[in-house]
Amino acid sequence: MMRAAAATTMKTTPSSYSYLTARKTMTQNNGTPAITIKNHQMDNINNNRRRRRQRILHIVSEGTGRFIVGGNWKCNGNRESVKALVDALNKNIANIEKNCDIYCCPTFLHLNYVKENLDTRFKVCAQNSWVEADLVDPEHHYDSTTGAFTGEISAEMLEDLQVPFVLLGHSERRTLLGDTDEIVGKKVAHARYHGLSVVVCVGETLEERENGTTFDVIFKQLKAVAKEIDDREHSSWGSSVVIAYEPIWAIGTGKVATPEQVQEVHSKIRSWLAENVSEDVAKATRIQYGGSVNASNCADLAKLSDIDGFLVGGASLNGDDFAAICNASSVHYKAVGR
Ligand code: PGA
Repeated sequence: MMRAAAATTMKTTPSSYSYLTARKTMTQNNGTPAITIKNHQMDNINNNRRRRRQRILHIVSEGTGRFIVGGNWKCNGNRESVKALVDALNKNIANIEKNCDIYCCPTFLHLNYVKENLDTRFKVCAQNSWVEADLVDPEHHYDSTTGAFTGEISAEMLEDLQVPFVLLGHSERRTLLGDTDEIVGKKVAHARYHGLSVVVCVGETLEERENGTTFDVIFKQLKAVAKEIDDREHSSWGSSVVIAYEPIWAIGTGKVATPEQVQEVHSKIRSWLAENVSEDVAKATRIQYGGSVNASNCADLAKLSDIDGFLVGGASLNGDDFAAICNASSVHYKAVGR
């Protein structure tokens, strides 16, 4: 797929630019102060930063996109059980509200069967796509992922199969299969280049939450993605890049994060996007919560203004439960007055 060449640097807003410029004039190259900054001048700079952050928080208080629910089938299923799940989902289609986007992630092996047999209300989503870790591509395309790479699946193949979504950076891939923040960023850029919508998973371990580094970890994961998605992509980021916040300690453990914990992280992700990408992107980006979501706890979580949907593992393997979770969309719209 060809795209027009354009500048690859991320937009810098005028106010953050002037702050950075001011900082640069304060120190010489060797780090010694070039001018003396009086305390009240530093206070002014800090106050301006604080005001800007508050303005962003005020403007970008919640998302504007359609509710979106994903079913992550992980490494589960055989021909018989996948057929049974597809049949159960199709049977449920009449009970599922139309106000929600839905995607399902079967294994690569079952992807084509699911695509051909599942009702088109459910989009199919691959669980991964590949890029070479060492590839350096200033154009952010990483456009050479087919070839002698035994056992891998490329975004080109997903595009060819007309698979519209790909899930990237799931914590099981990060922790068990070596996906670094940097690789996830490259995978996102490459998949976007091939027209795929991406769901990018971020989240902290229990240890990271307990030692107070949750936001450092999540912002680093987001930064690696934002770095790779250049200006060309910003116009479509909002509808095509979904972020799934999945605290690792809540995945498959039955220990769901509290609504307060989820709302705090989601609103901080949105503010981070506003400050580091753009306010439009922050508003339009859907932020899903994932980690032990089920048919019983989804309604309480869906009431939160910054939850734009769910990424569901275990409970997505049951057609009735998954349909019930999709229908939490109506609870969400009612709660946020949309
Ligand atoms: P879980 O998995 O719903 O089984 O906790 C969520 C996920 O890993 O995406």
